Amino acid sequence: MGQISVSVGSEAKASAGAAGDAHTLRHAFLESMASNSTSVSVVTTSDGERPVGVTISACTSVSADPPTLLVCINRRSPAHAAVSANGVFAVNLLNVAQRGIADTFAGRSNSNKPFDFSCCTVTHGTHCAPLIDEAVASLECVLIAQQDIGTHTVFFGEVKGIRLGAPSPLLYCRRDYGRFEAFKESV
Ligand SMILES: Cc1cc2nc3c(=O)[nH]c(=O)nc-3n(C[C@H](O)[C@H](O)[C@H](O)COP(=O)(O)O)c2cc1C
Repeated sequence: MGQISVSVGSEAKASAGAAGDAHTLRHAFLESMASNSTSVSVVTTSDGERPVGVTISACTSVSADPPTLLVCINRRSPAHAAVSANGVFAVNLLNVAQRGIADTFAGRSNSNKPFDFSCCTVTHGTHCAPLIDEAVASLECVLIAQQDIGTHTVFFGEVKGIRLGAPSPLLYCRRDYGRFEAFKESV
């Protein structure tokens, strides 16, 4: 197995090769994160007239007391402005059969109109965000804080309602989808 070690310190940044080093570090970072297996969610909200959604992998539990999570959304995404303005959003953890929905809300479906809700059925939650039917879980959140970091904004949501659904989550790793399978043997 090959090993790559990359580090860029303040001295390296000051050197003539800093741009190249930063590029190498960025590449290694993207490769590392590509191996970070995650669940796949669609963050839904409304822009005041229409439902809006975006596929994300950057979702983390923050605290159970009170139930709080965070999502990271690119500032270029239309969902970014909508979440910020609406102040409420839902995180829909997709089930393993909902790959098409993930691709649609990532704008890269071959068969569905990008970002269009006709790829799924939704139920309107009590906090003004559409809940995707048959998701593993749909968590309705009220936006409590946000922080810009680089190209993205971290949105913190306090969870106000949860609808539990299908058992098997859709996973993403190495730029591809998969399913969770527990080890059969004990280690
Ligand atoms: C599996 C998967 C996970 C993604 N995770 C995120 C994420 O966590 N945050 C985010 O802003 N965009 C994420 N995206 C990208 C967005 O869904 C979407 O593709 C992007 O905002 C489209 O705009 P662009 O074409 O300008 O990049 C993800 C896409 C896929 C397919």
